[in-house]
Amino acid sequence: MMVNMEVLFTQKEIESAVVRLAADITRDYKGKNPLVMGILKGSFIFLADLVRRLDFPVELDFVTLSSYKEKTTSGGEISMDRRFTTDLKGRHVLVVEDIVDTGLTLHFLLDHLREEQAASVRLCALLDKPSRRQMPVQIDYLGFTVPDRFIVGYGLDCAQKYRNLPDICCLDETV
Ligand code: IMP
Ligand code: MG
Repeated sequence: MMVNMEVLFTQKEIESAVVRLAADITRDYKGKNPLVMGILKGSFIFLADLVRRLDFPVELDFVTLSSYKEKTTSGGEISMDRRFTTDLKGRHVLVVEDIVDTGLTLHFLLDHLREEQAASVRLCALLDKPSRRQMPVQIDYLGFTVPDRFIVGYGLDCAQKYRNLPDICCLDETV
């Protein structure tokens, strides 16, 4: 197997995007005591960089989601493998995700959070891959739009590997 790795966004470009997003989020949420909800595992590096640039005291929670879309023809069964522990009633919730692809995962989670009677639910996504969307998802804060290629690095994995790459890369595997 040949693995070809191409840098799509460098550490510098990522840092600029994080600074921009953090400024927008600070402007919109300062004084509102939002709950920042990270989706594990993919968002962990983005989230860590983002929250350190938010100019208010940040409260965090985490959720782990997994999808079985590869195994179903109906295209989408999402399960919550680890649930958040914060009471969301009346809270402003900002979800932080690595990438929105088909949209099935986020559609499921955002619906679920709204059912918990959060005051507001918004989404910050590092990457958007709009070409494969099956369910509409509104991204309120977006880092970059990416083409229909497999992305790894800066938290994103391929079979649990490559999350530690400091750049955002495209992975092409050929047999
Ligand atoms: P969706 O439900 O199809 O939008 O998929 C969302 C999840 O699939 C993301 O949170 C990622 O974990 C994973 N994913 C989708 N595309 C990629 C990719 O290009 N690289 C790595 N993970 C991806
Ligand atoms: Mg993910």
